Amino acid sequence: MDKGSDEKRAKAVEETDGEPLVDYQGRSNPYIDYQSVDLLHSLQHLRSDGYDEMCFYIMGQTKELLFRGLHMELVNARDQITKDDVPNALEILTRCKAYVDHITDTWSVLGTITSSGFNQFRDHLSTASGQLSYMYRHVEFVLGNKDERLAAAHRNVPHVWPALKESFESPGLYDEVLRYLQRQGYQIDSSVLDRDWTQGYTSSESVKDAWLKVYGLPSSDNLDYQLAEKLISLDEAISVYRWRHFVTVHKIIGFKPGTGGSAGVGWLENVTKHRFFPELWEIRDNL
Ligand code: HEM
Repeated sequence: MDKGSDEKRAKAVEETDGEPLVDYQGRSNPYIDYQSVDLLHSLQHLRSDGYDEMCFYIMGQTKELLFRGLHMELVNARDQITKDDVPNALEILTRCKAYVDHITDTWSVLGTITSSGFNQFRDHLSTASGQLSYMYRHVEFVLGNKDERLAAAHRNVPHVWPALKESFESPGLYDEVLRYLQRQGYQIDSSVLDRDWTQGYTSSESVKDAWLKVYGLPSSDNLDYQLAEKLISLDEAISVYRWRHFVTVHKIIGFKPGTGGSAGVGWLENVTKHRFFPELWEIRDNL
């Protein structure tokens, strides 16, 4: 593909009199080539005649791409924190929350699938389930929700497992935020700063005290306060996502077991209780 430039675009406008270009040679056009659009549209391999399967399939694939975009931003936010670049991290976290809000809205579309519509293709899923989404698992891991059992589902997939294993064994975003707080002079217990990263994070009194100090100055110039508020808003947004999943699934399959082997709605309801940054919630009683 030729690279464009301001000059080339100005020349094209002159030649077309302001109308879009339509005269392409060869067997493709630059839009198709740039985003592999034809390839993308060849990836819907439906397994049934059920009308709702296309909706389910498209929203599932859409969510996978959005999880990927979100994951990239979360990793980048973590990198900015390791460099003490809080202003940049704040901007990236704003985008992360926008991603989550967008992903949450996919439930509005999926919620139009009726129980009978879902039943028309459900058996074709076999034991396929969103809980096997490795990109979602990456998102959970960079946010610090480590679960060895759920990670293990990907051990046999050679092109997926190495990156997921690395993510499982690495510090998450919040771990790096707590190290940053320590560098800023807050007293954080060493057991928090250097621990087995494969274990899920559990609340610490030293972290609670540090956040309480940060919240002592709730102003726009206090970057640590701004960071805390961004983090809790992200956590809140993901909780809303989980809650909408749970309610939508309740509406579609009631209390029937999930395709992935779990008890279904009961299991999903339980995961809605998870919070990534527990102390930011706990200190609310004292603010
Ligand atoms: C609309 C129909 C859907 C139903 C009825 C449904 C149902 C369920 C159920 C019952 C579970 C629990 C695990 C199991 O399968 O046993 C689950 C987990 C999960 N589903 Fe869905 N789901 C639906 C759509 C989706 C879509 C389109 C996605 C996006 C990729 C998705 C992502 C997930 C994820 C990531 C989990 C694991 C949650 C976690 O680890 O916290 N689901 N789903």
